[in-house]
Amino acid sequence: MKIADIQLREKPLFLAPMEDVTDASFRYVCKKFGADMMYTEFVSSDGLIRDARKSLEKLVIYEYERPIGIQIYGHIPEAMTEAAKMAEAAKPDLIDINFGCPVNKIAKRGAGSGMMREPDKMVAITESIVKNVSLPVTVKTRLGWDEDSKIIVELAERLQDTGISALTVHGRTRAQMYKGEADWTLIGKIKENPRMRIPIIGNGDIASPEQAKEAFDRFGVDGIMIGRATFGHPWIFREIRHYLDTGEKLPPMDVPERVRLAKEHLAKSIEIKGERVGILEMRRHLSCYFKGLPDFKETRLKLVTSLSPDEIYSILDYIEERWGDTETTL
Ligand SMILES: Cc1cc2nc3c(=O)[nH]c(=O)nc-3n(C[C@H](O)[C@H](O)[C@H](O)COP(=O)(O)O)c2cc1C
Repeated sequence: MKIADIQLREKPLFLAPMEDVTDASFRYVCKKFGADMMYTEFVSSDGLIRDARKSLEKLVIYEYERPIGIQIYGHIPEAMTEAAKMAEAAKPDLIDINFGCPVNKIAKRGAGSGMMREPDKMVAITESIVKNVSLPVTVKTRLGWDEDSKIIVELAERLQDTGISALTVHGRTRAQMYKGEADWTLIGKIKENPRMRIPIIGNGDIASPEQAKEAFDRFGVDGIMIGRATFGHPWIFREIRHYLDTGEKLPPMDVPERVRLAKEHLAKSIEIKGERVGILEMRRHLSCYFKGLPDFKETRLKLVTSLSPDEIYSILDYIEERWGDTETTL
């Protein structure tokens, strides 16, 4: 499968952009487990052109992450085009536009999924970005604003006509936020439209190898994007790939490998963000890696309160010593 000139394998697996989750250290571990394409957390176009530190930091990407896209969002057309050019200067492989974020603060202002209420503006912004950058441009969006305005099938054609190179669709409306189940039937309908030729990446609720296979088989998508299920479980990419290739399921990852992963992830987080921030931002991942271990409460607490790398490494050694043979289920 190809996005413009970016060659990906068949049935590629995409790591969904997730604010505060898919930072560079998490992307490092997801890549290691076989994520074929990744994106930065979304970057505010207003923040970028204002020179806001947090937005600029998100533009930092590493060679081993390629292919990678920088994702931008915003509602002011000129700011979006300007931000896309700044993102291009950071040399990602593509620029992705977020027209899907449902969060009030963003959507009510007309950015993210708020743009689903103004499809003409969405198309115009996309067109302007495509014209003004030379990298491939992709879009990530939802089915529509609400149940009565699921415009995605027609919108997909219009977006394609602007010259974008791929489209990712999360099978929910803005009104659904993250509730209910993702509806993949409309994603399938986009693929059935004979006018569509750009790759369509389906997204929403994939949490197992079986669901991943079904998404490809039933809805004909070119790629699938996985978000929440990667959290605390980045090896899901390996599990899905193995299942797609062999039809067999891998056993759950054992505790010693989880400990090795936690150490590697922590080291990367500290390397990239420095000791204090690196540890603080790792906490949410660390405890998830050991979810379900019996009598783990006290150790978990130590793991997520320590600010000393040495101490965290010894707690991890202790976890391996004490729970190394415990059967895991996830
Ligand atoms: C914590 C969190 C942060 C997110 N941040 C972004 C983001 O920055 N950009 C984006 O396009 N989508 C974002 N999303 C949406 C996901 O990319 C994805 O579309 C959604 O979670 C559905 O996929 P899933 O069911 O596999 O999680 C976020 C979702 C979550 C849960």
